[in-house]
Parts: sequence; structure tokens; C-alpha cells
Amino acid sequence: MALPDWSTIRALKSAPLQQLFDADPGRVAALSADVAGIHFDWSKTHLTAEAVQAFTALAESMGLAAKRDALFAGQAINVTEGRAVEHTAERGEGSPESVARARGYHARMRALIDAIEAEALGPVRHVLHIGIGGSALGPDLLIDALGRDADRYDVAVVSNVDGAALDEALDRFDPQTTLIAVASKTFTTTETLLNADSALGWLEGNGVADAYGRVIALTAAPEKAIEWGVDETRVLPFAESVGGRYSLWSSIGFPAALALGWEAFEEMLEGAAEMDRHFRLTPLAQNAPALAAFADLYYTQARGCETRATFAYDERLRLLPSYLQQLEMESNGKRVTAEGEPVDWPTAPITWGGVGTDAQHAVFQLLHQGTRLLPVEFVGVIEPGDGQADAHHNQLLLNMFAQGAALMAGKAHDDLARAYPGDRPSSTLLLDTLDPRTLGALLAFYEQRTFVNAVLLGINPFDQFGVELGKEMAKAAAGGASDFDPSTTDLIARAFR
Ligand code: F6P
Repeated sequence: MALPDWSTIRALKSAPLQQLFDADPGRVAALSADVAGIHFDWSKTHLTAEAVQAFTALAESMGLAAKRDALFAGQAINVTEGRAVEHTAERGEGSPESVARARGYHARMRALIDAIEAEALGPVRHVLHIGIGGSALGPDLLIDALGRDADRYDVAVVSNVDGAALDEALDRFDPQTTLIAVASKTFTTTETLLNADSALGWLEGNGVADAYGRVIALTAAPEKAIEWGVDETRVLPFAESVGGRYSLWSSIGFPAALALGWEAFEEMLEGAAEMDRHFRLTPLAQNAPALAAFADLYYTQARGCETRATFAYDERLRLLPSYLQQLEMESNGKRVTAEGEPVDWPTAPITWGGVGTDAQHAVFQLLHQGTRLLPVEFVGVIEPGDGQADAHHNQLLLNMFAQGAALMAGKAHDDLARAYPGDRPSSTLLLDTLDPRTLGALLAFYEQRTFVNAVLLGINPFDQFGVELGKEMAKAAAGGASDFDPSTTDLIARAFR
């Protein structure tokens, strides 16, 4: 298998951003794209036509087109686990058989939602969604972003095994009107099963006669959910070939579909499908996920950057950075190639971020004047989502634009402490509006960008063996194992003496 040759990328000349703008009046147009209601602007990154060409050549040498076709054809591109990767089939983009199967699962989810709405499971006002990682971050983001005013159902997403997380949700819920959705692809995750047991106990302890009758399961392991006690009619399966962090399009998205309505869920899938088609059919020089990945790889491979920060200038997208952390770091935080050989080039940078304008008053000092070069991505929405005077939203967006401009322009000053070096890169994603369709397109963009990064890095983004060792040791500790290192042994003794 081909290994990436970074020599051309590392040799790219990197004129200061201001010079790049001065030299090319068409720079903004050349380095921007408009897809599915999202405007992408990479002109304030150091990408040039030459860089895009070099990355396009690298993409060819790494077989990006064939791998993209294999992704959409549902081939077994998760080579380390010998599995197909079929999350795009959930939104209608995949092999006809996989799309048909996904539609079947969606129909089942819709029928259960209809039944819940018709109170066939008894009155439901509150939904306790229990899951962790990919079984929580996506639905949580969707509901937080789109469901703030929804008066359909009050949904709480509980992920942490810390009982305080469960307490908080249960304190505000009425057991007589609470439905529990247990979301776990494997149905073996210890935190989720403990939270589910405790939530069931809470129902039973509060006089709900048929507590299991108020539980539904969202899983790729239906037999395990049934064994745990959920009736088969309330198990919403999805395909094993849908990865956990790519699963919000499947029945894992159930609480979002319930809270926002089925139409909204379908619109989200359609927005994602539109981004998929763009990714599949557009030449790389205009291809949004590819260009974003090229910028990522330019900074990690040619400039030694170790992080990329995403700042959402919209309160509705405050969960986006945590969602991206799992998507990007669990996918591409690898140290071997897809064939198991060690890599000697950096793989995924650290994904971090926050919400504007809050972050400006906390971490932006380091972005502007710290010693590190930290690529930044801004995400804003043109149409306001708040009920306040225009001044709020105007100020919000103008702050976002000003930060990008300031990072790039910098400012000279005799006193170095007051000088800004400038030439600091940022890219900007500007959404026309934040509706289900646009959010679906945005999240599909991030998935496909992660995929392009992985292909060019020569790694498999679809496994996550790195999370297993800690889980094993936690299980061993719970089982009373005593062969830990002296520090860990001492800590366990102190906590449990
Ligand atoms: O520990 C990591 C992980 O396997 C993630 O990949 C996954 O999203 C999460 O745990 C939850 O897994 P499950 O959905 O099987 O409970």
C-alpha cells in the first residue's frame, strides 16, 4: 500500500497571508466554496493554488478517489476490523442493499415514534437518553442546537457514569411520564449499563408498575438488549457497519427524531446526503471536505502545528467542539498505517475549541500572541437564533470576523508585549441558517473531512483500539485486581480504605 510522501508538501513556500492576498485579487473566490447552505472560506489559510495541486497529487497517490468510491459502495474499508463502513447509507448514499436496510430501520424507528406520540407506551413527557461517546454526543448536539424551543419532549442526555449526571436529570423528571432510551452500539458499555440499571431502579422505586415497558434500546446488538430485558418490539436496531461516532444518522438519533419531529430528522439526513454528493462528485480543488483536509494537513505536516481549534460563534453550537473531539481524535489519533506499520509523520492534531465570544476573553490571548502557530476555524450562522435585539447577533458575527482579521493582520508596536505578530491562519464556515438540513450538511462535512485526512495520512479512521486498555484496567480494578503500579495501588487504597 502507498505511504504518503510529504516531501512536496513540506517544501511548499509559505508567503505571509497578507502577501498572498496582495498577489491575487481572486484569492477569496479561489479558496471558498458554497455547499448546502454553508459558505466555506479558506483564503485566510496559507493554502495556495500550488499547495492545492500538491495535495491533489498526494490524494491521487493515496488512492482517494477509489477509497471514496469504496466508502460509498459499502466495502470493507475498516481493514483492521474487516468491516464495511456504511454510515452514509443511513442518509441514502450507499449501495442499494445498504440504503434499503437503513430505510427499513428508519421505518421501524418512525413507527415507534408514532406509537409514543399516540401514547401507546403510556404518557411520555420526559426522555432520558442514556449513552456515551458516539451514542450521546451526536444526539445531544442535535437537540441542543435545534430543539431549544421544542415543546414536544423534554430530553436529557446522560453519559457520565458519575451519578451526579443521572441525579441532575432524574431530579427534574417525573417517573410516571419518563421514557428511557438506552443507546449503545455494542450494548456492553459499562457506564451505559450501570446508568440504565439505576434509571430502571428509579422507575421501579417510584411506583412505575412495568418499568421495562418504559425502556427502549438503540443498538447494533439487539440480542444483547433483549437479553438485558428490553422487549423486542422496543429495540431499534442499526447496522454493525455504522461506526459509533458516525451513528447519529441511525436509530442512535432517536431522541432527536422524537424531540424535533420526524420531518426534521429526515431533513437532517437530506442535508447530509447533499454534502455526500458534493464530496463524491466535485473535483478536489473545489471540494469542501478535501480543501479543509488539505489545510489541516498543511499545518500539521508542513508547519508542525499540533492543534486545530474550532470556535462556534453561536450558542446553539456550543456542543460542536466536544462532538468534533470524538469524531476527529478517535478516528485519526493513530500511530500505525492501515496496514499496521508505524507512521513517522504526525497524524491527527488535537481538536479543541469553544464558543465565541466567551473564548475571546479566555484563550484568544494565546492565539494572538503565544509562541505557537494555532490554526483556528470559526463557525457562524447568518440568521440569528435568539430573541434579542439585532445588536446581539450583529456584534457576535462582527466579533468573529474581526478575530480572523486580527489574527491575520497583526499589529506592529515598539513595545513587543503590545505587538501582534499576525499571519495567523483561520478558516471560516458561515451557515445561512441553523436548520436540520444545514446542520446535517455541516456534520457530514466534518465526517468526510476526517475521512480525507485519514486517507492522505494512510491510516484507518474507523477503528478505536486505543480506548480498550483503560477499559480493561478499570474492569480489572473493579474485580479487585492488585497488580497495578505502586502509584495506582496507593490511590485505590486511599479511595476505598
Ligand atoms: O470507548 C469508545 C467507544 O467505543 C466509542 O467509540 C463509542 O462511541 C462509545 O465507546 C460508546 O460505545 P457503545 O455505543 O457501544 O456503548
